[in-house]
Amino acid sequence: MVDFLTLDTDTLRHMQKQLTLKYEEFKQQNLKLNMSRGKPCPEQLDLSAGLLEGLNRNYLAADGTDCRNYGGLEGLPEARRLFAELLEVQPDEIIVHGNSSLALMHDLIARALLFGVDGQNAPWGQQPIKFLCPSPGYDRHFAICEFFNIEMITIPLREDGPDMDLVEKLVAEDETIKGIWCVPKHSNPTGITYSDQVVTRLATMKTKASDFRIFWDNAYAWHDLTSEPVPLKNILTACKEANHPDRVYIFSSTSKITYAGAGLAMVASSVQNINRLKKQMAIQTIGPNKLNQLAHVRFFQNAHNVRLHMKKHADIIRPKFNLVLNLLQTELGGKKIATWSRPQGGYFISFNTMPGCAKKVVQMAADAGVELTKAGATFPYGIDPKDQNIRIAPTYPSLVELKKAMELFIICVQLVSIEKILCSREQKPAELITPLGNKAQIV
Ligand SMILES: Cc1ncc(COP(=O)(O)O)c(C=O)c1O
Repeated sequence: MVDFLTLDTDTLRHMQKQLTLKYEEFKQQNLKLNMSRGKPCPEQLDLSAGLLEGLNRNYLAADGTDCRNYGGLEGLPEARRLFAELLEVQPDEIIVHGNSSLALMHDLIARALLFGVDGQNAPWGQQPIKFLCPSPGYDRHFAICEFFNIEMITIPLREDGPDMDLVEKLVAEDETIKGIWCVPKHSNPTGITYSDQVVTRLATMKTKASDFRIFWDNAYAWHDLTSEPVPLKNILTACKEANHPDRVYIFSSTSKITYAGAGLAMVASSVQNINRLKKQMAIQTIGPNKLNQLAHVRFFQNAHNVRLHMKKHADIIRPKFNLVLNLLQTELGGKKIATWSRPQGGYFISFNTMPGCAKKVVQMAADAGVELTKAGATFPYGIDPKDQNIRIAPTYPSLVELKKAMELFIICVQLVSIEKILCSREQKPAELITPLGNKAQIV
């Protein structure tokens, strides 16, 4: 494929005309496709058919608890055992609660602002505080910070995790930095998994704030697309070994295992943190939906079955990832106008345009009926400093819809890139567009 930057202006103008015709054809089709959020598709949801029927009018947990009644704030013992095993923590280090890990994160931060996190340091809300935000990252983490007026500091996310030199420097010198967001495995959106070294550095680093916390959102802990799971070092163990046992809160859920919005959510941490959380949560509620927990435990029975179930998810969504990756490679490979991730799991492909093009591409796709995640959403305050990152979420649409959406997307990327190259030539002939500025693979 030809490097667009080496093409002469006439050739580029000719291509622009042809691509514009194709774009107009797409517009005529009145498409209405939504690829904006990482949602499981109906076939994935069908994998959990029977889950809710599993109760079969028998509502008693293993210890005789009637799950229809109040109580059991920390979760059913069998649910705690199951997810403790999956998250590699002890059952007394986990609370299984509610349907949304995001809600657990939101509430934990709200309590930290009101009461602090350890009973020793002042409530976080008594002074302006900051969070480190490895980016591109998860827009809803950033939305929580914005909502609570927590200042966000963007940290570059590399292939092996956040830029740890920068993280270590900042947390060592600034007492108002209280937390860091991490999606450590198959990260949203770049798909990277933190290296052992990064996990160790996060656990051992010196922080000026003694109440500094890592928000370890392991949403994609079991969501491998490969036959062998991608390993992730155990952060709770690393924190204990580093003498910082209370430093990390681990979150996860079954939103993309069973039902999104109707699954189980969990938070794991040191026993001390868990006990503190339990006391606070007891003010908020008398207990979680234990019937759903019982249904989940009966459906899966053990951790091995959860892993088998996740292989079935992978079999459904792998062809979608492959379709997107193959189309990108065939249509954009070698043109030097974009880079993209090749994830081993998770829900997203992270795509980088030439600097300054992402917003325009997303707008053009929307004008022709394909809605993508808002450009900029993967950065704090919705501002991508280079305006180049776009999150592609291939799981929900059918293969037919996905192909159509990607064909349009690829046309938009080329059109916006050509326009950018032509403009830069007109303004400053010698100054060609700079190579793409991040660590994603150059194709
Ligand atoms: C990184 C990450 N965390 C959390 C969530 C939401 O999780 P839950 O459904 O448990 O609230 C998502 C959903 O896309 C996500 O990508």
